[in-house]
Amino acid sequence: MIQAPKGTFDVLPADAERRQALEHQARKILSAAGYGRIETPVFESTELFARGVGEATDIVQKEMYTFDDGGGRSLTLRPEGTAPVCRAYVEHGMHRLPQPVKFWYLESFFRSEQPQKGRYRQFWQVGAEAIGSDAPETDAELIVLLSELLEAMLVKGVHLRLSSLGTPETRAEYREQLTAYLHAHEDQLAPEVQARIDLNPLRAFDSSHPGTQAIMRDAPKLLDQLTPEDAEHFATVREQLDAVGIRYEIDPTLVRGIDYYTRTLFEFTSDALGAQSAVGGGGRYDRLVEQIDGPPTPACGWAAGVERILLSGAQPPIAPDPVDLYIALAVRETTSATAAFVLAREARRAGLTAQLELAGRSLKGQLKHADRIGARYVAILGGEREATVREMGSGEQHEIPISSVIPTVLRGNRLS
Ligand code: HAM
Repeated sequence: MIQAPKGTFDVLPADAERRQALEHQARKILSAAGYGRIETPVFESTELFARGVGEATDIVQKEMYTFDDGGGRSLTLRPEGTAPVCRAYVEHGMHRLPQPVKFWYLESFFRSEQPQKGRYRQFWQVGAEAIGSDAPETDAELIVLLSELLEAMLVKGVHLRLSSLGTPETRAEYREQLTAYLHAHEDQLAPEVQARIDLNPLRAFDSSHPGTQAIMRDAPKLLDQLTPEDAEHFATVREQLDAVGIRYEIDPTLVRGIDYYTRTLFEFTSDALGAQSAVGGGGRYDRLVEQIDGPPTPACGWAAGVERILLSGAQPPIAPDPVDLYIALAVRETTSATAAFVLAREARRAGLTAQLELAGRSLKGQLKHADRIGARYVAILGGEREATVREMGSGEQHEIPISSVIPTVLRGNRLS
């Protein structure tokens, strides 16, 4: 038996309903705040992610699905959406539009990670990006929008962690300090942290190794070294979140596995998830557009994992759409089958939901099936002119011309 590749999954019709509910909420919440939907290609040039996400990140170093397009160009299945949205912003000259330009997306992404609950190799993200504003209101508004989406999806046990990374210059100075501190305590760190001290010292904050955690408690913190402008920007974001009652925890050790962040950084987690507790996160990325050859453009955004939202949500199962009319055949012959086919199409054009008998069941079997799918009316066709219409609730039935079936069901729908 051929199976789906490891770390991928099928979305079956029964799961599709909840995903659609998420899409509906995202559209409602984000379009009300002026975000327009964008779709970018599934693959991009590898250079976009190498430059945008960062050469030293795990994503670029080991998680990308990269291939040659046959003509010597290296392409990569998108591992994330921010660099592609910025690429589209630059490519389409959107810096000439009124700023900021606000986008949202719901797409699949690809990372070659070790699969586990909530972590897949093809997964979906819903995301929002506001490009062209450095106002702290942008950051605060984006955080509020993600918080509202998680609330609408009834995600349980949500916590928000917040930090600021300052500018790349502050970060570079801090990085030197932290690297020196880590080298001074090297013998007490986990081997994988030791190996990455010079490559990515910030990741030491992420370690679950007890010795490393103890050392990191006393490590210098970036948040204490922000420039006055960055500190003020961060204070305003916090004030605005306070003003709308969003609860958060300041976490100076917050790190995310992508290099483009500047200033505000945040992550939402859910207690309902296991080890992979991050439901969504993001932050400001004021240098990214310039890094991919656009004009200097401040920006901010987030992305949340669709599967993780659904895993941690408490959404009740969604009832399937009601079936207004089920069209059964008294006997299987071509004239009635064609009349049934035409009637189903006309019923749908009249705004009803209608299903045809397609499995060659006996009349008894057809009525049983109609009951199982919750059909409100069944029309039993015995030829091309007459039909017996049965109201399934009461069991009442009448023989009427086929041309009267749709008006009868429509009238019945109006009365109930
Ligand atoms: P990220 O934190 O890498 O950020 O991913 C965002 C969310 O995608 C995670 O919080 C998680 O819910 C989900 N996710 C990530 N990897 C997987 C996986 N392998 N399986 C299932 N879900 C996963 C970004 O991607 C940034 N582009 C966010 C952003 C937007 N920053 C600014 N704008």
